[in-house]
Amino acid sequence: MRYEQIESGLFAQNRARLSELMEPGSMAIVHANDILPTNADGVLPLVQNRDLYYLSGVDQEESVVILFPDAVEERDREILFVRETSELISIWEGEKLTKSQATEVSGVKQVNWTSSFDAHFHRLMPQARSVYLATNEHLRADVVVETRNARFIKECRDRYPLHDYRRLAPLMNQLRVIKDEVELVQLQKAIDLTESGFRRALEFISPGVGEWEIEAEYLHEFVRNRSKGFAYPPIIGAGKNACVLHYLENNAICKDGEMVLMDVGAEWANWNADMTRTVPVNGRFTDRQRDVYNAVLSVQRGSMNFLRPGVTQQDWRDHTIELMEVELIKLGLIDAEEAKRQDPRERPLVKKYYMHGIGHHLGLDVHDVGNAYEPVKEGMVFTVEPGIYIREENLGVRLEDDILIGRDENVNLFSKFPIEVEEIEDAMND
Ligand code: GLY
Ligand code: MN
Ligand code: MN
Repeated sequence: MRYEQIESGLFAQNRARLSELMEPGSMAIVHANDILPTNADGVLPLVQNRDLYYLSGVDQEESVVILFPDAVEERDREILFVRETSELISIWEGEKLTKSQATEVSGVKQVNWTSSFDAHFHRLMPQARSVYLATNEHLRADVVVETRNARFIKECRDRYPLHDYRRLAPLMNQLRVIKDEVELVQLQKAIDLTESGFRRALEFISPGVGEWEIEAEYLHEFVRNRSKGFAYPPIIGAGKNACVLHYLENNAICKDGEMVLMDVGAEWANWNADMTRTVPVNGRFTDRQRDVYNAVLSVQRGSMNFLRPGVTQQDWRDHTIELMEVELIKLGLIDAEEAKRQDPRERPLVKKYYMHGIGHHLGLDVHDVGNAYEPVKEGMVFTVEPGIYIREENLGVRLEDDILIGRDENVNLFSKFPIEVEEIEDAMND
């Protein structure tokens, strides 16, 4: 791994917290993700299963965690399995974790080779009153590829059909949605890298540069600072491309007089930043661009202030739409009288210019796990990302910051980023 090793205490604490949520006599089993194939003998770099990582800190394929807090023998209460290396693997792939390194990373004392997993599992199953298994229950997940965890669930059901199986996801979501201090340090690092990339991009952007060249500026900054790279495929869209919500081509030239929208985040140790900034390609806002930009900024601030403990995400969304309606009326994009006549729950007029959600949980996943109906709590981290997209003007503006819900006030984790019109213009014309 490139990043500095994280204190194993974080992962030990995560396991302890999960153990408290598990039913008496139950066992939880989580597998690493597969290394995914591409074509011929090609593979993608491993993207670790986030639950496995959260419980162990292990960033290596073919790893498994067993948590069995009430196991008769103490050595069975936490077991980590890692892939045994060989002369051949070390020549072709490099070093893998030794057992003692795996203990150092995770804090788990009992480490075995993955090849022995079946034997241990078979030995423990008769003791388990119920078994928690990992499924991906993210509302937006649309997965056709069978994961290692999904394969394992089938194997379990075939081999031990009369066991009582439980969903691990609600427990993991409950834990992961509240961020620990050590996690916040990692997340802030991802955000700081994103800021460096943004400042570099501000110096670079001028009429005639390619969207892909801006992407390269960010990547250079992230990787040279030991990130694996982007937290998600970046969106760099100038002019009309800024109105394409999931624009990924990044293949157009940025023209004088356009604004360029950049939805980019760095990854750090599997935590993710998620930022959007929109700036004028020539470094100076026109009056219209400034008005639209300040409208988005005003909605973003109002929306951030509203997102306090106890608020539901539904209320947050509705409140933001109300704020947005006021701004769209001021911009002359919707008619105040017509707005009064519409269904107040649907507000179709706003949706013509602002058609996506206001934000999401952020953490080990960019669209992090959580329960959409659970009210906001201290320790959660959300993105706040309103936008106005005026296709008839080839103008799209989105601003996205990441905020921590604090007890007395929210903390904007992007506090150092330029965001005011003057700050952007100064940084671009310095
Ligand atoms: N970049 C993905 C998002 O903003 O949700
Ligand atoms: Mn984003
Ligand atoms: Mn986002």
